[in-house]
Amino acid sequence: MVLSPSLLSADFSRLGEELAELERAGLSWVHLDVMDGSFVPNITFGPPVIKRLREVSRLFFDVHLMIREPERHVQAFAAAGADMLVVHAEACLHLERTLREIQNLGLKAGVALNPATPLCAVEEVLEGLDMALIMSVNPGFGGQTFIPSSLDKVSRLRRMLQERGSKAIIQVDGGVTPENAGALVRAGAQCLVSGSSFFAFPPYAERRKAFEAAAGSDGPREVTP
Ligand code: DX5
Ligand code: ZN
Repeated sequence: MVLSPSLLSADFSRLGEELAELERAGLSWVHLDVMDGSFVPNITFGPPVIKRLREVSRLFFDVHLMIREPERHVQAFAAAGADMLVVHAEACLHLERTLREIQNLGLKAGVALNPATPLCAVEEVLEGLDMALIMSVNPGFGGQTFIPSSLDKVSRLRRMLQERGSKAIIQVDGGVTPENAGALVRAGAQCLVSGSSFFAFPPYAERRKAFEAAAGSDGPREVTP
C-alpha cells in the first residue's frame, strides 16, 4: 500500500517544509489537489506553485486535477514537474486522447471517478492506464466523511481490471483513515490518499506507520474476486 498524503490539509504558509518533513518521515508520494472553482466549488493552486515545490522535493508528485477541460493544461502541469496527472472522467470530452497526451509527455496517467459516476465511464480506457482513482467523497474539500458504498466500488473495479488484464493501480481519495484503510486495501486499493486524517496527527512518521499497520494488519492483501 502506498500512502499519498494530500497537501490540501498541510500548512499552506510552509509547503516546502511540509514536503521535506514528508520525505524525512519515509513517505514517497504526495497528492496535490488542483481545483478550479468550476468543476468543484473550491480553488487551490496551479502550475506555478507546483513548479516551486518541484525545486525543493523529490517526492512522487501525484497531481489530482479537479478542473474542467484538463487537456488545456496538461502541458503546463508536465512542465511544472508533475509525475502523474489524474483527470476526472466527468471533465474530459475526449478522455482517451487526454490520457494518451499525458503519457506521451512522459508522465503517468490516471482517471478519477466521482462517487455518482459508474465504473463503465472508465472501462474503455483501462488498457495502458496507470491509475484509477475512486473518489470516496464528492471532490472539493478536505475533511469530509467517507461514503461507505465506495468500498464495493473498489472491489468491482478490482474485478474489472483483472478481467481486462489492466495493470492500473487503484487509488482511493476522501475520508480515508486508519479505521477504513484495512478494508480498502482488502477490497483492492493499492494507494490511499489522506489529508485531514494525516496532517492533523503528527509526527508524520508515526502516522505513516499507523496507516501502514492498519492496511496490512487487517488481513491478507490479495483481493477476493
Ligand atoms: C477532495 C480531495 C482530497 C482531499 C482528501 O476533494 O481530492 O484529496 O484532500 O482529504 P481528506 O482525507 O481530509 O478527505
Ligand atoms: Zn484529491
